[in-house]
Amino acid sequence: MTVLYICRLMEDLLKQIQDYKSEIETYSATDEKTVEEFRIKWLGTKGLVKNLMGEMKSVSGEKKKEFGQLLNDFKKFVEEKYDLLKSSINMDWYQLQSQPYRKKYQLSGGEYRFEVPPDLTLPGDNVPVGSRHPISMMTNRIISIFQRLGFAVAEGPEIEDDWHNFTALNLPEHHPARDMQDTFYVQQNPDWLLRTHTSNIQIREMQKGKLPIRIICPGRVYRNETVSARSHCFFHQVEGLYIDENVSFADLKQTLYFFAKEMYGSDVKIRFRPSYFPFTEPSAEMDISCMLCKGAGCNVCKKTGWLEILGSGMVHPNVLSNCGIDPNKYTGFAFGMGIERPALLKYGINDIRLFSENDVRFLKQFTSAV
Ligand code: PHE
Repeated sequence: MTVLYICRLMEDLLKQIQDYKSEIETYSATDEKTVEEFRIKWLGTKGLVKNLMGEMKSVSGEKKKEFGQLLNDFKKFVEEKYDLLKSSINMDWYQLQSQPYRKKYQLSGGEYRFEVPPDLTLPGDNVPVGSRHPISMMTNRIISIFQRLGFAVAEGPEIEDDWHNFTALNLPEHHPARDMQDTFYVQQNPDWLLRTHTSNIQIREMQKGKLPIRIICPGRVYRNETVSARSHCFFHQVEGLYIDENVSFADLKQTLYFFAKEMYGSDVKIRFRPSYFPFTEPSAEMDISCMLCKGAGCNVCKKTGWLEILGSGMVHPNVLSNCGIDPNKYTGFAFGMGIERPALLKYGINDIRLFSENDVRFLKQFTSAV
């Protein structure tokens, strides 16, 4: 580095600048290194331009302005030269700002090239947007309807013991109704099984002993059925339970009627058919008028005009006492429905297996569905 020149008089200063200028004018760079040397010598933090600036303090008051002007002009002169040197060796401005991600490469002739800077005005890459699974959408819809009636969501285990899945629900061992639900048992411990319905959640809630109970129980359930386009060995259910004093079948009907109208439209018709479930008495299955043919009869409703959507009934007194609830004081109703069937209908899907194949081509069709 050149020895510092300390100037005291304006004449000295002018002369010094003149000398510097001619030195700079004749300077030429051959590569990145010599350009950088130029920058350090003249524009660096300990460079000559900075040094000259330091002379400001030794200049008397009235000359200060003149001196300042001279120095600024000189600085500009040096900077312009620096730019010129950079472009003369094709250096990229971004590289000189020392952005480490810019790659530099050398051409066979020794010249340097730098990666083209990114065009920040270009549109970004599309980030694929995920979508909810049709089963989740259907479940959420059902839940939100019952939530408006004051039902809270309750959940429970998928691996369950025999008592919560069967015995407590008035299905003692060897009860023929257990045949209705082919069950997957855990081999090491036949007391454990994959729940066949979400009614186990209802038992667990009743056991907590907090009354009244108004819950909705969504979840996955398992049954040993042959997998086909119409049925699967696992599927989803939403069950509901309402227990309080003076709950009647009229409450059940009105609640489910409200649900059907919210879910399938205000012109839907419902009908109850007497049925049998070990855990309810009386029991009924609820049908809705077929929304596709409006009751006229089509392939979906097998020409009946009706679609079966859920099972329901008044909770059997045995179930209440199994869970420590006094059946003389409390009554309640329960209902349960599958999710897959209504989802097939709503989205026009013809194969239940599609729900669990994880095929993105299938799943992404629901991006904008509700
Ligand atoms: N648990 C029954 C089933 O899985 C459905 C149901 C629930 C029926 C509540 C009546 C009352 O088939």
